[in-house]
Amino acid sequence: MSNQTGLLKDKVAVVTGASRGIGRAIALKLAASGARVVLSARSQSALDDLAAAIAAAGGEALAVPTDIARTEDVENLFETALARFGQVDILVNNAGITRDTLLVRMKDADWDAVLETNLKGPFLCSRAAAKIMTKQRCGRIINISSVVGEMGNAGQANYCASKAGLIGLTKSMARELARRHVTVNAVTPGFIVTDMTEVLSDKVKEELLGQIPLGRFGEADDIAAAVVFLASDQAAYITGQVLGVNGGMYM
Ligand code: NAI
Repeated sequence: MSNQTGLLKDKVAVVTGASRGIGRAIALKLAASGARVVLSARSQSALDDLAAAIAAAGGEALAVPTDIARTEDVENLFETALARFGQVDILVNNAGITRDTLLVRMKDADWDAVLETNLKGPFLCSRAAAKIMTKQRCGRIINISSVVGEMGNAGQANYCASKAGLIGLTKSMARELARRHVTVNAVTPGFIVTDMTEVLSDKVKEELLGQIPLGRFGEADDIAAAVVFLASDQAAYITGQVLGVNGGMYM
């Protein structure tokens, strides 16, 4: 790709939820940094478009439709990645959903859907990736949590619990996998402009903006830059950490 830095040359990365938003920006930046990228999300057509964009820019990408909450899908994702590229060096657990509502109105199904995608999904993907990475004796797992996993947020009990759980999962896996040179870190985005946040009312957006010292909402590229750094050799001595990319919203 034109702005290829080679920072991730010869690496293979799996990105979940790559079809749009933050995941798409992460996949593009990993590819621009020299990685071959395995794109996963539920929609084949959106992934094919992204794979074509990466190929057009001189990169290499493989699209594998996956529901990360389903064990069979996740096993297929990593088998397909290995069959094509022979290695998996980087996993970015990015896919996530919201089902926002107040606690007393929250249905069991709202709780289950969010925990299944946002916490069980990263567990399933990390377990599959760890089997490969520990054999390779190197690897990077990067979990996209959220600032509200650190702060809590009214109306998001299910989402905040899943994202706080993901931080616990990050730290436990970091301790477990360190001896095999597999690092595990979390990135906690603040308010990032994507389809997920587009649904919020102008009033809520204005209130949020008032809480951000840097005075702007984040871009998907702000998160992608942090992920590329954590995925690179430059971050070899960083594990079990939570990197806030939130404009100072939470310190
Ligand atoms: P988005 O809604 O634009 O994209 C989510 C992606 O996840 C899509 O590609 C979707 O297909 C995929 N996905 C959802 N469920 C899936 C499943 N079961 N299996 C496979 N793929 C699935 O979301 P956005 O804003 O790009 O967020 C990405 C991540 O960043 C999420 O984990 C989100 O919780 C987190 N985040 C986002 C923030 C924001 O302000 N946008 C703030 C903090 C965290």
